[in-house]
Amino acid sequence: MTASAIVYTSATGFTARYAQLLARKTGLPCLALERAKELPAGTGVVYLGWLCAGGIKGLKKARKRLAVRAVCAVGMAPSSPEVVNKLAGQNHLEGLPFFYLRGGYAPEKLPGPYKLMMAPMTKAVTGHPPKDENEAVMQEAFRHGGDWVDEGALAPVLAWLEGS
Ligand SMILES: Cc1cc2nc3c(=O)[nH]c(=O)nc-3n(C[C@H](O)[C@H](O)[C@H](O)COP(=O)(O)O)c2cc1C
Repeated sequence: MTASAIVYTSATGFTARYAQLLARKTGLPCLALERAKELPAGTGVVYLGWLCAGGIKGLKKARKRLAVRAVCAVGMAPSSPEVVNKLAGQNHLEGLPFFYLRGGYAPEKLPGPYKLMMAPMTKAVTGHPPKDENEAVMQEAFRHGGDWVDEGALAPVLAWLEGS
């Protein structure tokens, strides 16, 4: 395995849950990015960060000190090849293995500035009757939260780790 630890950044807990599930399945140690200074510089890691306006939180900082071998982005959008391609392009991954994991949305846990950032988006998503079931689910999530953390979504990450 080219990674010897899992490092993550999480604001409301969904990314932390994926990181902990991955740690349980691999036996690798799991640290929040603030604690990653406990790892020697250049340690090979799998990095997981939550998505904020298309950016993977903490990735730049993690790459300054650690050898990031693979990246997981955790967002609230449903997974699709288009989402994955767009995020890979936006985050300058330069060919690093990249995985998208659907996390959730917990508006009540959001720190103030992020709550403010989400207000116009929430209005845009919820301000009209839903056109289909998928939109109804997203509206409900924007209003009251949603949780899509799925252990099974880690299968491609585990397969990559086992083969690396
Ligand atoms: C300010 C803000 C911007 C967000 N931008 C995106 C985004 O671009 N794409 C996406 O899928 N989810 C986006 N989300 C949703 C979060 O990525 C999602 O809630 C994620 O699961 C949070 O992970 P955490 O609990 O580890 O913090 C955004 C959330 C906030 C608060």
